[in-house]
Amino acid sequence: MKPEVLQLNAILIPSINEQLNALYTMRRLFEQEDKDSYIREFGRNIQGVITGGHTGISNALMDQLPSLKIVAVNGVGTDAVDLNYARARGIPVTATIGALTEDVADLAIGLLIATCRGICSGDRFVRDGQWPVKPQPSAIPLARRFSGMRVGIVGMGRVGRAIATRAAAFGCPIRYTDLHAMDDLPYTFVAGLKELASQSDALILAAAADKAEGIVNAEILQALGKDGFLINIARGRLVNEPDLVQALAAGRIAGAGLDVFVDEPNVPPALLKMDNVALQAHRASATWETRTAMGEMVLASIAQALAGERPTASLTT
Ligand code: 8YV
Repeated sequence: MKPEVLQLNAILIPSINEQLNALYTMRRLFEQEDKDSYIREFGRNIQGVITGGHTGISNALMDQLPSLKIVAVNGVGTDAVDLNYARARGIPVTATIGALTEDVADLAIGLLIATCRGICSGDRFVRDGQWPVKPQPSAIPLARRFSGMRVGIVGMGRVGRAIATRAAAFGCPIRYTDLHAMDDLPYTFVAGLKELASQSDALILAAAADKAEGIVNAEILQALGKDGFLINIARGRLVNEPDLVQALAAGRIAGAGLDVFVDEPNVPPALLKMDNVALQAHRASATWETRTAMGEMVLASIAQALAGERPTASLTT
């Protein structure tokens, strides 16, 4: 009999799904209407869980899976899993660390350029037939230059570093904040987030959200200033969203590029009407290349755990 694996989110790569189907009896929770009774029916025999970074797994669900041998996060953020709890139960929690670095960094830069150059609002202007109606150049406000912008990066892990490399290629001076300065980096360390914001034209969030809820609040946005842009490709809850909406509405910052939100898939309605905001539906890792690499890492981790080995990507065992 094939081992049973519970999958909490869809995987969009056919070759990964084929391999999962060949190796395991897949229990796809996200396809079920009545999730509770599905868990009651199949929970007992589930040996592996596959979940997304944003979805994670609750302790209550882990408790309903007595045969659980691995939680494989198909993503890099593990803030939605109680790692201490999994560790105490001896359950390896794995993540796809390294697989999505380049794509997430690409989207951070893409969102920043989209925001400061008004690419999305410009597209809407052309698409809505406004150009012939308002052919005068003043119909669209002048944009802001990205090249040379002072970029402040919050969180200098793999993604933060990849963002810095890209921004540096655009001639941007880079400052960053993290728990401590990093000797191997040619960028300027700034200990305080407020200080970093006040020295940046663009503040890019690339930090883990575990202990950093709401760190970007009204005070930080005020420090970023009316010419400053906020980019978030990490987790929505790093930002106090009502403060962000107010700062944008009052012109206290210049704009925002957001891939992540506090209550996905719900986006604060006020943001939808703002031309100086570029929005994405949590898509930073959503390329064929990255999602294939992530899926292969998930497969490898599950195979290792179910073979009784310690998964090499384990963060808890
Ligand atoms: C994914 C993410 O969207 O890696 C993460 O932590 O949030 C994203 O890359 C998600 O994990 C896909 O399942």
